[in-house]
Amino acid sequence: MIRANANEASSNRVSRSLEIKMRGMQLALAVVLGTVASGCANVERSRDLGNPNVPPAVTAVQVCSNCHGVDGNSVSPIFPRLAGQQAAYLVSQLENFRSHHRADPEGFEYMWGISHKLTDAQIAGLAEYYSKQTPRLHDMPAADPKQLAAGKEIFEKGVPEQNVIPCAACHGPKGQGIGAFPQLAHQHADYIVKQLNVFQYTQGRPGTPMELIAHPLTGENKEAIAVYLQAFPD
Ligand code: HEC
Ligand code: HEC
Repeated sequence: MIRANANEASSNRVSRSLEIKMRGMQLALAVVLGTVASGCANVERSRDLGNPNVPPAVTAVQVCSNCHGVDGNSVSPIFPRLAGQQAAYLVSQLENFRSHHRADPEGFEYMWGISHKLTDAQIAGLAEYYSKQTPRLHDMPAADPKQLAAGKEIFEKGVPEQNVIPCAACHGPKGQGIGAFPQLAHQHADYIVKQLNVFQYTQGRPGTPMELIAHPLTGENKEAIAVYLQAFPD
């Protein structure tokens, strides 16, 4: 019994020290972002995420753009695209990072520190900025037509024999989303697969219909739907 407690205490210590290390990394990142190639004191101040007087569009261009792109069309699939995303969805996710409700590993690693000091007004302004940007097509070789067709079928009709509901029912016929239902069209395929795995296998994004929906998806289903959503051909 004592031994079990000691083990527990030591594993708590390990996870605590890991947490501190992660926070240290976030801080280092914030410092880097705050000092990149800037000799101008106003720019310095405007990079302070804790200053509610900085207009959200300035924060978006000077801070968020480092990962998500100036117009929200990120290039690397590590960083989700935000261009044209539903404002209500953007608000909900920034709130979820800030409150630590959304705790998937990369959300924790990248977005907890960044959202920490944002006020509700800043969040609303950032959401408005990105929702007004135009999603761009990916600069990618054409996808495998068979996979595209399989993805389209799942998106529009679901997979009845696996009890998968059509994605379009909530995400809209053009994958454009509505309100708290996110736009999925032109999102990075790798990010989509990653998030489907988060919903399917973890509690990183709890309390959404996606846990149930992702549950019966096979690896092949997830790849096909992600390839289709990234390309989203007419
Ligand atoms: C250092 C890189 C980095 C910076 C800077 C950054 N983000 Fe992120 N952001 C990420 C990553 C990585 C994810 C994906 C996390 C995951 O996989 O859960 C993400 C996810 C998000 C999401 C969720 C998107 C979705 O589709 O669910 C929103 C919204 C977001 N970021 C907004 C912002 C805003 C606004 C800023 C500026 C205040 C910002 N981010 C700055 C890396 C960054
Ligand atoms: C009953 C409504 C509903 C259906 C049907 C549905 N979704 Fe969702 N989906 C949601 C909601 C709500 C969210 C936002 C969850 C959150 O707030 O974290 C979401 C989020 C997502 C995300 C995360 C997006 C991001 O930017 O992080 C992906 C990926 C996704 N859904 C894919 C799918 C796929 C693929 C299907 C079809 C197999 C599907 N969804 C069917 C309601 C639905």
